[in-house]
Amino acid sequence: MRLWPRTLGMQLIVVTAVAVFLSNAAVALWFELGSERLSENDLTERVVDRAASITTLMASIPPKARRPATEALKSKLWQFSVEQGNVVPAPMNPSEARIASRLRSMLPPKYADAPIAVHFASWPGAPPNPHKDWRRGLDTIEMSLPVVRNTRLVATFIKPPPPPWPTEIVIAAIVAALVASAAGAYIARRVARPLSKLADAASLVARGETAPRVPEVGPDDVCHAAQAFNTMTDQVTRTLERQRQLLSAVGHDLRTPITAMRINTEFVEDSELRDRLQRNVDELQALTEAVLSAARGAGGEAPRQIDLSSLVESVCADLDDLGEPVTWQGHPPAPLSCRANEIQRAVRNLIENAVAYGHNADVSIREAGDAYEVVVEDNGPGIAEEDQTRVFEPFVRLESSRNLETGGTGLGLTLVRAIAQGHGGAVALENRDSGGLRATLRLPRKPAKG
Ligand SMILES: Nc1ncnc2c1ncn2[C@@H]1O[C@H](COP(=O)(O)OP(=O)(O)OP(=O)(O)O)[C@@H](O)[C@H]1O
Ligand SMILES: [Mg+2]
Repeated sequence: MRLWPRTLGMQLIVVTAVAVFLSNAAVALWFELGSERLSENDLTERVVDRAASITTLMASIPPKARRPATEALKSKLWQFSVEQGNVVPAPMNPSEARIASRLRSMLPPKYADAPIAVHFASWPGAPPNPHKDWRRGLDTIEMSLPVVRNTRLVATFIKPPPPPWPTEIVIAAIVAALVASAAGAYIARRVARPLSKLADAASLVARGETAPRVPEVGPDDVCHAAQAFNTMTDQVTRTLERQRQLLSAVGHDLRTPITAMRINTEFVEDSELRDRLQRNVDELQALTEAVLSAARGAGGEAPRQIDLSSLVESVCADLDDLGEPVTWQGHPPAPLSCRANEIQRAVRNLIENAVAYGHNADVSIREAGDAYEVVVEDNGPGIAEEDQTRVFEPFVRLESSRNLETGGTGLGLTLVRAIAQGHGGAVALENRDSGGLRATLRLPRKPAKG
């Protein structure tokens, strides 16, 4: 089973090739056996006829002439000798007995009671036969026939070699198998290509990225799968878009009443109450701005060339100044063209999460192929695998964080993902073996357009 190929293409090729080859071989064998049986019967008739007529001939010529006559009658296939004595009956197998009785029926009636012996054997004088009869292992038929009283004729027939297995049949079988496998390969390509495109697109969706439309080609069944997939991604895109529009509308419409509230708080005379109200308004405003940025995702800011390393370092330093447990591992300059404010925001969100939910943040930059990866690790509880996709959705906060005093909005990671994707990158979460969460923000050095 280890030899059994795993891909659909190879399986189709192997199955068709084997099937075609076997069916060809079976048909060839069938014909071969059929014609063999025919020529075998034909041959037996001719052998019997010749042996019987030569026996009759020997009986009708003078005894002296018999020996020269047998000499003259010898051929490549026949040997004759006239011997003293009657035929000695010997036990015969059914095929030998059948030939004996055919012989008897051809001899004149006066021989009706005389014994006849037939013996299939390998005859020592037979010329080497490269095509030894592989079915029965015999190559001569020795027949002892009564000529006259006390004289017998021993006629030995050397079976001609069976015709060799025709090479044409073998070549035809190979060619048929090749042609059929080429056809199999073609079909497999038509099926497997769209299927692997579909699989690629599906894993993109699973990673939370926008899936390209898969081409709706190939056989009907495959084509239907592609159509269903495209319909599904359209639906998902529309839902996401509606969500984005909703966020955007809410964020936008909140701005005006917040501004009004801010102005109105100025008129509150009790300074303590005024300060509290203003703090509340500030929080509301920050929330609204976060909603708006999450809805906008990327956009607005123009990309510029920065050093990612010093950008991350300055975010770490700012938080460190505020007394947060943030460690920066350091990294040589990492030039990157990006929307720096967005990247700064994304990095800060990740670090703030690490500090808020994971007690500390350990920040580093890795170079991974054609991308930089900002890695933020903490020593907290991590995030259960089944929640790792959900936390990117807007307003999703896990049960554990509700109890904490960190009054987040649940938009931080939504924003990080929007920013990463806006830069042609991605963000991934995973639990560390040693405990805690590892958040990786991947940013291609040559960001995708858009
Ligand atoms: N490092 C982490 N360790 C454990 N849980 C985390 C971590 N980072 C995020 N989470 C969980 O994921 C949830 C969503 O995070 P997200 O940053 O989107 O929102 P938030 O931090 O609650 O609010 P905001 O960032 O908008 O102020 C968090 O509420 C928290 O439950
Ligand atoms: Mg957060």
